[in-house]
Amino acid sequence: MSPLPLHRAVLDWYAEAQRDLPWRRPECSPWGVFVSEVMLQQTPVVRVLPVWQEWMHRWPTPAALAAEPSGEAVRAWGRLGYPRRALRLHAAATAMAERHGGDVPASVVDLQALPGVGVYTAAAVAAFAFGDRVAVVDTNVRRVHARAVSGVEHAAPALTRAESDLAAELLPEDPDVARVWNVAVMELGALVCTARGPRCDDCPVLTTCAWVAAGRPAYDGPPRRG
Ligand code: ADE
Repeated sequence: MSPLPLHRAVLDWYAEAQRDLPWRRPECSPWGVFVSEVMLQQTPVVRVLPVWQEWMHRWPTPAALAAEPSGEAVRAWGRLGYPRRALRLHAAATAMAERHGGDVPASVVDLQALPGVGVYTAAAVAAFAFGDRVAVVDTNVRRVHARAVSGVEHAAPALTRAESDLAAELLPEDPDVARVWNVAVMELGALVCTARGPRCDDCPVLTTCAWVAAGRPAYDGPPRRG
């Protein structure tokens, strides 16, 4: 299993504390994972849940969505915000129908070639839908790494090479463990190691956290969003 105490602590915490979200269940299709990752990029889980359920009921496959006019996707997007994401999902579904036999492609390279799919979404889908051993680095993960390992309150405004290297270094060797690790760190950032008012008393890595050890110094880096 994982060599670092950090891994053990986070994975044990996640086993107890994880939210039961439909896109994390083993029976969720790669398309369901893909849709969830696009929706979750700028919208909280509670607002995504009902729209995701409705979306998957109506368009259970990329081909089903591709067969509809893109305006239907925008309408179903409802109040999730940033409705351009609905158009991008529709365009991605069309590309899957035309170029990938109606399936979500499995490789990071093919995923990133889809319209509107960036580094984050490609890694998240490859890891969560296909079990790829690839680091998934969103804002929550970046903040946990910044605090627990680097000892600073927040990550820099944009992802740095050093952060990507650290995320790759921390990724457990075993692909099954790596997949859980990715979502476990993300969940720790979402539920405990939050941007404002982190719940350090409930944190599984409190005793080894570099930021806590340094006395929780305030962020003094370049201006950041959020
Ligand atoms: N589970 C898998 N991916 C997620 C995400 N992007 N946000 C919250 N929970 C997730």
